[in-house]
Amino acid sequence: MDFRVLDLCCCAGAASKGFRDAGATHIEGWDIVPRENYPYTFHQGDALAALADVEYLRTFHYVHVSPPCQAKCTLTLGTNAHLAGRYVDMYDEVRDLMYASGVPGSIENPRARPDMVLCGEMFGLGVLRHRKFELVNWSAPAPAHVKHRGRVRGWRHGEWFDGPYIAAYGKGGGKGSVAEIQQAMGIDWTDVHEELTEAIPPAYTRYVAEQFLSQNGAAA
Ligand SMILES: C[S@@+](CC[C@H](N)C(=O)[O-])C[C@H]1O[C@@H](n2cnc3c(N)ncnc32)[C@H](O)[C@@H]1O
Repeated sequence: MDFRVLDLCCCAGAASKGFRDAGATHIEGWDIVPRENYPYTFHQGDALAALADVEYLRTFHYVHVSPPCQAKCTLTLGTNAHLAGRYVDMYDEVRDLMYASGVPGSIENPRARPDMVLCGEMFGLGVLRHRKFELVNWSAPAPAHVKHRGRVRGWRHGEWFDGPYIAAYGKGGGKGSVAEIQQAMGIDWTDVHEELTEAIPPAYTRYVAEQFLSQNGAAA
């Protein structure tokens, strides 16, 4: 079965890896900055340019986009700072172009319609990392949220909390080390802290892709 996936705003490819785990046969990723750790076919470029090319989009069975969210966008940092402000909030444009293309896909973003809200505990992971997925040009039932086993480890307001989950963002205060974040999210091909903190666990997109393929496997 041929299952071609386009992953826009791909960072180091954690979402892409989930599609691979679900059976994707060809994956292309686009990011505005170079991502040397990206493990599949990489294009450095603007996701909005890719989305505007409907002919290109239609060469894929599925398009996933994780547009950066304003509060956490690392383009505000370091050598990429000159790009900040241009792409602060791409959600509206991404959504409009995706629906207009007719190609099935998903948007993962805090502003996304929460068709699926995924949590690490659903997959037995060591992070909670709730993430919203808007399903575009297809639909599936929302999975039930599962009860957390405990708390996120770390200091909060001067108090230490222990627990089965690590904080996979920021540094200090008991937050996860690079090795802990890799282990907790199931990512072993990048040790770049920024890429790990941006990532969604591959288990999430694997789940989304499996729901899609259970409905559309014959078409792919
Ligand atoms: C939240 S991260 C994506 C995380 C990714 N889905 C993963 O699982 O690892 C957002 C990414 O969007 C990229 N980005 C920001 N503006 C962009 C644009 N206009 N076109 C393409 N990529 C962009 C950033 O460099 C960053 O890697």
